[in-house]
Formats: sequence, C-alpha cells, structure tokens
Amino acid sequence: CGIVGYVGSQSALDVVLAGLKRLEYRGYDSAGVAVVADGSLASRKKAGKLVNLEKELVDRPLPAGPAGIGHTRWATHGGPTDTNAHPHLDNAGRVAVVHNGIIENFAPLRAELAERGHDLTSETDTEVVAHLLAEEYAGDLAAAMRRVCRRLEGAFTLVAVHADAPDVVVGARRNSPLVVGVGEGEAFLASDVAAFIAHTRSAIELGQDQVVELRRDGVVVTDFDGRAADVRHYHVDWDASAAEKGGYDYFMLKEIAEQPKAVADTLLGRIGAEGQLTLDELRIPPQVLRMVDKVVIVACGTAFHAGLIAKYAIEHWTRLPCEVELASEFRYRDPILDARSLVIAISQSGETMDTLMALRHAREQGATVLAICNTNGSTIPRESDAVLYTHAGPEVAVASTKAFLTQLVACYLVALYLGQVRGTKWADEILAVVGDLARIGEEVERVLETMEPVRELARSLAGADTVLFLGRHVGYPVALEGALKLKELAYMHAEGFAAGELKHGPIALIEEGMPVVVVVPSPRGRSVLHDKIVSNIQEIRARGARTIVIAEEGDEAVVPYADHLVRVPATPTLLQPLVATVPLQVFACELATARGNEVDQPRNLAKSVTVE
Ligand code: G6P
Repeated sequence: CGIVGYVGSQSALDVVLAGLKRLEYRGYDSAGVAVVADGSLASRKKAGKLVNLEKELVDRPLPAGPAGIGHTRWATHGGPTDTNAHPHLDNAGRVAVVHNGIIENFAPLRAELAERGHDLTSETDTEVVAHLLAEEYAGDLAAAMRRVCRRLEGAFTLVAVHADAPDVVVGARRNSPLVVGVGEGEAFLASDVAAFIAHTRSAIELGQDQVVELRRDGVVVTDFDGRAADVRHYHVDWDASAAEKGGYDYFMLKEIAEQPKAVADTLLGRIGAEGQLTLDELRIPPQVLRMVDKVVIVACGTAFHAGLIAKYAIEHWTRLPCEVELASEFRYRDPILDARSLVIAISQSGETMDTLMALRHAREQGATVLAICNTNGSTIPRESDAVLYTHAGPEVAVASTKAFLTQLVACYLVALYLGQVRGTKWADEILAVVGDLARIGEEVERVLETMEPVRELARSLAGADTVLFLGRHVGYPVALEGALKLKELAYMHAEGFAAGELKHGPIALIEEGMPVVVVVPSPRGRSVLHDKIVSNIQEIRARGARTIVIAEEGDEAVVPYADHLVRVPATPTLLQPLVATVPLQVFACELATARGNEVDQPRNLAKSVTVE
C-alpha cells in the first residue's frame, strides 16, 4: 500500500493527492483521503483506482485544511470495497487512520472494542486502530499512538490525524516502510520518497518501532515508549523527473529504454583500471569471504529469476555450492545455515516482506547476509550485513525490467569478486568477462534498436491462448522470466521450461500453431548445449509449434527451424541473459498493449509486496 501524510501551509488535500499519484504503483485496489480543517475531520474513499476518488472529490469536495492523510490500497484483510478502503475513522469521526501491513491480533482487539460498545463496520484490521486511538487520545496524538502501538502485533505502518489536533500528523512504523520529508514550515510522511520529492529532498528514515509527530515547525521521533530516538537525515538524490514517464506511454517502456544506462551505472566505479573488481563498499572482510563454504540466494518474483542465473555464475567462477530459493519457502523448511554461509537477498524495493523474513532467519542462524537492492535506505539493506546497490533509479512499472538487468549485473560482480578474492583457476576467464561486462550496456542498446519485428510479432499473437518458453543453462531462467512477464502483463497462460525437460512432459502441450519461444545459447563455447537445443526446436516444430527463436548473431544452425528469428549480440554464455531478456520484455509489453491491458499496473499485482 502507499501512504501519504502532510502538515503545512499548502492545501493538505492537494499535496496528499499528488503524493498518492506517485505511490499508486504500490497498490490500486482503492484509495482514500482525510483532511482536518476548522476543528473537524472529513474523509472520502473509493474502491478502484485513484481516478475514482478524484471523481468523488469533484462531486463531494473536501476543505483545504492544513493537515491530511491519504492511502492507496493493495487489499489484504477484506476485499477492495468503498467500506474497506482507508482511511478508517472512529465512531465519532474525530480520528482517521491509514495503514500498511497486517495487524495480527486484530481479532481479539476487535472483540474487546465491540464489548466496550464500539461499532466496527469494515472487515479490515485497520479499523481497530482508529477506535483504539480514539479511546487513548487525551490531547496528545503521538502519546496515544505510542500506547496503541504497544498493543499491536504484526507488521504495520500507521498514519493518523485527529480533529482536535489540526496541526499534527502522527506516524508509526514497525517493519513496513515509512519516510519523513522535512520542508520549510511543512512536513511530509510517505511510504516512499517519490510522494514528496517535488516538495523537498530532505528526508529522515524512520526506524523499527518508532513514532513520529509532524508539525509545521518540525518533527519529533520517539520509540514506542516515548524515549527520543536518534534520527538520520539524508538527502534524496533521485530527481522528480526520474519518477515521471519522460515522454513514453508507459513507465515500463521508459524503464526498458533506460536499461543500457542502468547497467552502466551499476558497473560504475566497481571495475578497476586493470580489470580487477573493486567492491570494497561491501565491507565484508576478505577473510570472511574466503571462509564461506556455501552461498544461498533468496528472492521473489523477477528477483528470484536473477538469483537462478546467479547460481550458474557463482558455481562456475567460485566452485562454491549455491542454492537459490523462493524467499517465501526458505525459512519454513528449516534450511541448513551457519557462520560459513553467505546468504544473498535480492530485492528491487528492499521492502518485500517474504525476502525480509528470509534474511532475518538467515542472520539468526549466524549466516552473513548480503543484500542486492535498488532502494537506498530500505529495510532489507538496513538489516543485512552488507549491501551492493543496483543503480537502476526508481522503477515504477510493476513488472520489473531495468531492476532485473541491474540485479544480474550485481550478481555477476559478486560472483566475479568472490572468484577474485578466493582465487580461482578461472582467473583469465574472469578478466576477459569483466571486459565483456564493461561493454554490455552498448550491447543492450543494440538489442533495443532492433525491436520493431518483435513488437510486430507480439501484435500478431494477441489472440493466442498459451505461449511456452524454453531454455537451457542460463537460458532456462530467462525462459522463466519471459513467461512471468507474459503472465503479469498479458494475462496469458505462459510457462517456462528447461528445454531438456520437454520430452518428460511439456511436449504433450504442443499443438498446431502454438507459439514457443526458445532461448538459444551461443554456438561457441558450450556447443553441446547449443546442438541439443537445436534438436529441441526441431522436435517441437515437427509437432506443429510456431517457433520464435532468440539466437546469437551469426548462429546459422537455427535458421531453418525458426518461424521468427530474433537476433541478440554475441556474449559469453553466462552473460547472455543480459541481452536475451530484453526482447522478452518488449514482447510482453507489446502483447499487453495489444490486448488492451494496463501495462504499468497489471490487475491484482503490486510493485512492492510488504505482507508475507
Ligand atoms: C512483486 C512484484 C514483482 C517483483 C517481486 C519482488 O511481486 O510484482 O515484479 O519481482 O515483488 O520484488 P522485489 O522488490 O523484492 O525485487
């Protein structure tokens, strides 16, 4: 969910609505606002996207008070209805609350409140907070918030206003993200800086279990017991325009186009003049890295696919065993970890709850945790032993593109660095690959220049029911990513398979005319792999598949079997995903458009999933 709070001399309603627009990617099942003006509190909320709320505000306007809060929701407790939308108010309508996260003990609290005569009308866990705050309020909203927070279990961010406190907004944070923006005579609260960078670059990140009181003339941060907390001010260096579409129809198109730069930025300053890797920023002493006896990667969604590819690179260049696991499965199977395990948590947002919980579990077992993350100051890097930031810049489209490519770059850097630090028989290969990596941004650029036939092909497939994706070696996770993109964006049945598994089941799915995308490894180097996949292409074609072949420039062996041929530049095998994924992103984006779907905000999804 996305949360905004404001107090100052501007119209709180305008500031909050503009902030919600920037945060809509965090959830868009419903939206709502509340404003305090002239000693009273008024609220509007609506199911569906923000435009529905904006229409409601035209029909039933709100006053332009000095303090306000807003919310854009990704439903957890209770469906996306007007009633379940935030803010939630107490029965007297004096206090309003917005919330992100889950309050695990809401059922007993709700029963208790009902016994004391409160009338709770929604199905949400949030409503109990409004009622508890109303009971606890005795002239100091922050103090009331602290008392309420001490009674809550679970993960939550809360922001509240009270009709009797017209110049105050109060926020509280446990686990779910919340940042404070400090302006001249005004202050902001939001789940993400994008909501307020148009107004101020000066920010404070709230820590775990902290309450913040916002007034026009300053902010006060305490812990849940009221003790003053140390605050860390920082300057936000993402500019406002970076969070806007920059002339493209969709954020996703802009983000796909930004990939060459994102890749180059992620390499910047990390490769020395002699081709050696300079990752001192990791701050994990080399002796610790030399002691590591296994690597475990945890991540979700697209980041998980980056992890699957990283496994090939890490095992090859370091000879360390590497497991990759979906973060949501990881801790529940009681994984074997100790002080010699290196756990790598990959997350664009740095807020994905499944990944956060996995890393906490790993640290409890004594493992060293390295985060690969795109969002400075987010929770996952803060709770890790070390972090390697990807420099993709803000990614707004729900379906991840540039963040994925930069996650791959970061994974290669870590794999190569581990190889360098630990010594490996592949020292020469590592040097050569570092050189290739340094040039890879230009290769991605070349891929982007030749995408028109891919878009045309996508449009011609708008009516297809199923698309299959095949790959081998690192091409296998690329196939999984291609299928995920299609599910997310085109709402089509899409599946990725290891091409070698085809004969063990999936080949039964092939029907006349069914589109099958095949990611072909380089014919140089591991040529056995290449020859095997060429046979796989022949097998599916013989059964009627319409083959869409992604192959390296100069690979002539695939030509007779490709109904559609997409060329990518030649790269070392392990780096091929950096170029081979790009056509699949373009393909999914164009198919979504052709099918009339919302590209940046696919149904049922959210950019940052902060619940387990
Ligand atoms: C959500 C998004 C996916 C993303 C996944 C992991 O499910 O819809 O696009 O890959 O979260 O996000 P993270 O921020 O941890 O990389």
